[in-house]
Amino acid sequence: MQREDLLSYLNWFYSLEVSQVDLYIAQSKKFKGTYESIVFARTAAVEQQHVDKLAAIIRRLGGEPYLLGDVISPLFGGLLGKALSFTGLKKTLQGNITIENKAMSDYVALLKRVGEEFGPELQTVLQHNLVDEDVHTAWFVQRLTDYELLELKD
Ligand SMILES: [Fe+2]
Ligand SMILES: [Fe+2]
Repeated sequence: MQREDLLSYLNWFYSLEVSQVDLYIAQSKKFKGTYESIVFARTAAVEQQHVDKLAAIIRRLGGEPYLLGDVISPLFGGLLGKALSFTGLKKTLQGNITIENKAMSDYVALLKRVGEEFGPELQTVLQHNLVDEDVHTAWFVQRLTDYELLELKD
């Protein structure tokens, strides 16, 4: 892979991760006073680490991180003004799972395409971010399942 191509992929992840920080902070405020609020805040903190690590690796490769604009709406058919204000916990969790799945599949795709040619840190950053998204997804899915089971009991 050419360095320029890699930089554009990394900027895509950078933009997605920045959006996730904003999203999870907003969700944490929205559900203030709940356990989920704390989880969203801690998840945002992890996404911020992803942002920082991606920015560092982009700079190490001679680039400068930049935001691509709204990268989340297209994941929801372009209708995100609304999806972002995901109403209710269930829609919020479903939306988060969609975004985390996109991040994971893109991290996996890039990991398949880059080897050691850009140094070992790149693979480590991509792998660590992937694992974190995997953990986030697992929690969101489990919480959604619990929530849906509770709904059935009503
Ligand atoms: Fe992330
Ligand atoms: Fe995540």
